[in-house]
Amino acid sequence: MVDVRRVVVADPIDAAAVARLRAGPCEVDDVSTDPSKLAAALPTAWALIVRSRTKVDRTLIAAAPHLSLIARAGVGVDSVDTAAAGERGIHVVNAPAAATASVAELSMTFYLLLVRGLLPKIASTKGGRWERGTSGRELAGRTVGFVGYGRIAREIARRLAPFGAATIAYDPFVSAAVDGTAIVPFEEVLARADIVSVHAALTPTNHHLLDARAFARMKPGSYVVNVARGALVDEAALLEALGSGRVAGAALDVFEEEPPMNQALLEHPHVIATPHLGASTAEAQARAGANVVDEVLRALRGEPLQAEVPPPGGTR
Ligand code: MLT
Repeated sequence: MVDVRRVVVADPIDAAAVARLRAGPCEVDDVSTDPSKLAAALPTAWALIVRSRTKVDRTLIAAAPHLSLIARAGVGVDSVDTAAAGERGIHVVNAPAAATASVAELSMTFYLLLVRGLLPKIASTKGGRWERGTSGRELAGRTVGFVGYGRIAREIARRLAPFGAATIAYDPFVSAAVDGTAIVPFEEVLARADIVSVHAALTPTNHHLLDARAFARMKPGSYVVNVARGALVDEAALLEALGSGRVAGAALDVFEEEPPMNQALLEHPHVIATPHLGASTAEAQARAGANVVDEVLRALRGEPLQAEVPPPGGTR
């Protein structure tokens, strides 16, 4: 056993949260500014705090024999091998609600930019042209179809109501309407939505959920928004759907590979691309840091955890 429980901060998190951790009953090894130091920190790590840069795979877990807790300062745990952690009895926690408002706001921004046709207008005006005339449509009267209806999509639906937009959703884990959003089959979201907005967690079974077949079933002239995980959307098929006009525009905060390499997609005049910043507001990062530090401090004191992610098939 290591004498003092050591908490390794592998990725940058909110500074105030790290300061609070330093005042706790532990030693803090903050290697976030120099990832090359992580390997040396793992053998004595009791807890590990990560964002998405550090991939907590089986090899990393094996290199940390005293690890008891992995704290993900964010929502998605696809960068953590929860099965390998579960086999060792390592607890995994996340910050499930920290970024809800930030991602909801980013999604709303994307809807408005896309539906109003603003991207080409901004580019042409900044390029010295003055292209007036009818531009886009109103969000009022449009239907937003969510793929995945968890915390973030529900928050967006709540915020869309005063805009006069209708909402429908597909979610294999939700069967009844929630707050006025009908739960419908995947195909119906594709057929009815003016905007297909992706909010599902990435799992081993939903890679390329939006593929060529799905795009072919979408309403002609509809839009795609992905603020969840890049691998949920087949980027090559999306580019083709943009080319054919089936999809009129897309807003992507996440990519199959990050940073993205698909230059044709990035440069497409009807594609908005941002660098996976949905959760990167000051507020969301302060909450994410505070939430995971709270969990680490609870674990250090032997108190029950509040945001534990069960291992696959587990109920922890
Ligand atoms: C999340 O899962 O919390 C977001 O994608 C943000 C992040 O990975 O940092």
